[in-house]
Amino acid sequence: MAVLKVAKLGNPVLRQVAEKVNLNELKDPKGELQNFIDDMIDTMREEGGVGLAAPQVNRSIQVVVLEYENNERYPGEPPIPVTVLVNPVLSEFNDEKVLGWESCLSLVDFRGLVPRFTSLMLNAYDRQGNKIEKRASGFEAVVLQHEIDHLNGKVFLDRMEDLTQLSYQEEFEEFWLKKDPAP
Ligand code: NI
Repeated sequence: MAVLKVAKLGNPVLRQVAEKVNLNELKDPKGELQNFIDDMIDTMREEGGVGLAAPQVNRSIQVVVLEYENNERYPGEPPIPVTVLVNPVLSEFNDEKVLGWESCLSLVDFRGLVPRFTSLMLNAYDRQGNKIEKRASGFEAVVLQHEIDHLNGKVFLDRMEDLTQLSYQEEFEEFWLKKDPAP
C-alpha cells in the first residue's frame, strides 16, 4: 500500500496511448499488478479524486480506478462504489452531450466546462479478469469518459470547446459556481 506520485500536465506519459494489460498477469493474485491497483486506489483516495488512470501515476497501461461518494468537488452526485477497470472500451454513445465542470489531479487546480456524452456502453475487465459489460449514464458516464481519455493520451482540456470556460478553482467558486445552471 502506497500513495504514488501523480504525473502533471507536461509529463509525456499523459500524452501516450497506454498499453493493454495482459490478463494472465492480472489474474495472478500475488502478482505485482494487484499491488499496483491497490496503490492506485490509495492514491485516488489520498488525493481526493473520483477516478485515476494508470498513466497519471506514471505507468502507461490500461487500468482505471473510480470511486465516488460525496466528493466536495462534485457534490450531490449518485455514489459509485470502488471500481477497477482493465482494458476498458467505450462505445454506443448516445447523440446527446451535456456540459459539466471537470477537474483532474494532473491539472492540479484547473476546472473546465467539458461536453460529454450522457450515455454509453462500457466493456472492460475487473481486477480478477472477469468481463464487465454495462450501460452507464449521467455522472458515471462522465467519469468514465474522463478517465478512459487518459488511456488515450487525452486530458479534459482537449475536449473543451470554449477555453474561456477554463478557470482556477478559487475563481471558479467566485465567478462561475452561481452561474452554473446545473446544481
Ligand atoms: Ni484526470
